[in-house]
Amino acid sequence: MDRMKWKDEFSRRFHRHEDELKWLYCELYGNDMGAFDYFSGMLYRSWSERPEELKEIDRAREAFPEWYKGHTLIGMLMYVNAFAGNLDGVRSNLDYIEDCGVNYLHLMPLLESPEGRSDGGYAVSDFRKVQPQLGTMEDLSRLTAECHKRGISVCLDFVMNHTSEDHEWAKRARAGEKEYQDRYFFYDNWDIPNEFEKTVPQVFPVTAPGNFTWCDEAKKVVMTTFYPYQWDLNYANPVVFNDMTDNMLNLCNNGVDIIRLDAVPYIWKELGTNCRNLKQVHSLVRMMRIVCEIVCPGTLLLGEVVMEPSKVVPYFGTVDKPECHLLYNVTTMASIWHTVATRDVRLLSHQMEQVFVLPKEYTFLNYLRCHDDIGWGLDYDFLHYLGQDEAMHKKFLNDYLTGNWYGSLSKGELYNNDPRLKDARLCGTTASLCGIEAARQMKDTKALETAIRLDVMLHALMFTISGVPVLYSGDEIAQENDYSYHDNPLRCEDSRYLHRGDLNWDNVKKRKGHRTVEGKVFRSIKKLEEIWAKDLAFDSCADTWLLKTSNNHVMGIGRYYKGEKVLAYFNFSDTSQQVWLTDSIGYRDMWTGKMVQNSYVDIEPCGFRWLKAK
Ligand code: GLC
Repeated sequence: MDRMKWKDEFSRRFHRHEDELKWLYCELYGNDMGAFDYFSGMLYRSWSERPEELKEIDRAREAFPEWYKGHTLIGMLMYVNAFAGNLDGVRSNLDYIEDCGVNYLHLMPLLESPEGRSDGGYAVSDFRKVQPQLGTMEDLSRLTAECHKRGISVCLDFVMNHTSEDHEWAKRARAGEKEYQDRYFFYDNWDIPNEFEKTVPQVFPVTAPGNFTWCDEAKKVVMTTFYPYQWDLNYANPVVFNDMTDNMLNLCNNGVDIIRLDAVPYIWKELGTNCRNLKQVHSLVRMMRIVCEIVCPGTLLLGEVVMEPSKVVPYFGTVDKPECHLLYNVTTMASIWHTVATRDVRLLSHQMEQVFVLPKEYTFLNYLRCHDDIGWGLDYDFLHYLGQDEAMHKKFLNDYLTGNWYGSLSKGELYNNDPRLKDARLCGTTASLCGIEAARQMKDTKALETAIRLDVMLHALMFTISGVPVLYSGDEIAQENDYSYHDNPLRCEDSRYLHRGDLNWDNVKKRKGHRTVEGKVFRSIKKLEEIWAKDLAFDSCADTWLLKTSNNHVMGIGRYYKGEKVLAYFNFSDTSQQVWLTDSIGYRDMWTGKMVQNSYVDIEPCGFRWLKAK
């Protein structure tokens, strides 16, 4: 390879990282310099093929690497088909997305994936081809280009842990080609798989038990951590890392700004371990970060690490050697729903304290709901201290949020209910979990008002936590559960489809109505967004701390940045609560614009207050 020919920009970026990249690569791949040369050449080719408009964006973001921090990005997560049928449909509805105040659009997996064996698009059979019913790669590029014109960044999943069993590599492996079997984990018999099973937990214990599947054509056993049709890739083989990185860069060159690293903790396997978060995973992610900084520095990596906090935070890497730009604030999300059920803020306050002490460089993606279930990954040590037993507590949460508890209007459904492990998870839309669906059915106006207030309060909380808030499409108009999946044989086993319904465009129109539920929720979320975007105290660099409320129903958060101070209170009980302000410097209610007259504030049932210091 003639490095002299490399353009200045590429070589400047490459040389900045070369030592570290080579070191990490050689350490992982036994000094395979042939593979490293191929890898570097592939990076150069990807950079050369990168469209000039995207290189312009790279340059601007490289000059201002903090571009995604502060309080500017507001995201929305959606299925292309559920939102508008196909990619062109999304493009023609960008006005609505802008109306929602969103400038970061996460499109759920849209690459080719076999019908009925797709895990919602998470079993990719061709990383270079869009699902025909959604459009083409060109449609994707046209959409990302239009988004960029409007200042919207686009996020896409990079499903890197596995391929579909219909992927070309899998087909060739099944036909007996050793070179392709080496891209996966193939075993002649069950001896080693059985050894793995002793230490590796199960992801889908009910819908897809076990971590291996018999492949009859190859007469071998193949590793399938998720569904049997999702074959785990073997990243100990450098060809896999090279080709998958190439696939990722191809997405970036089609205009994807944010790469969601799907199921990233799982990408390295080793016998005798739980095959999660192994140190080699961090080497791979660090290399992917370097790759992006060389080829497409405008790109962000969003790690999907649905684990306890001590496992999540290392994926940020260090300040000198960063890994992911963004990570899901998953424990906070689960703790929020715990608090909805218990109306007791002690666990959530404790969780927030853990988040508040983290370095401000760490940027979390904050969310209430996404396409997946809610797993009860809570801080059980702390709950034990409050006298709670883990299994009983999970049962209570699931009972409450499925409406099987006195006073609960939640309408969730269980997910992967494994009676043996007593570890069911939970599905449902924000609105239905908050009680909007049940209150409407009961025509109970008062209950409906409280449910709407709860929905809005939870969104206010999401905006109060530092980071990037991401809405789940439909939540902006309080969309309810979709039960139609029960009658669909391809979906009925997977209750996550409960909250993956089509956007109801008739209800979208109702957002303009003053008295409609859609209008009330839509306008409130928009107002939250506007206040959040305007006030410096919501900057991700702000100091944040817990406010003492002496009330287990009310959580208080303080924020301060560059002279601007905000106090935020969230009442999780269904009765009014009062909290005393900690000082008397004078506060204005940011929602009503009115000055607070007393040294205490009242908070409506399931309501919140945002108070701005004078
Ligand atoms: C991630 C996705 C989930 C999918 C899994 C397997 O966890 O969020 O929906 O089932 O990966 O790809």
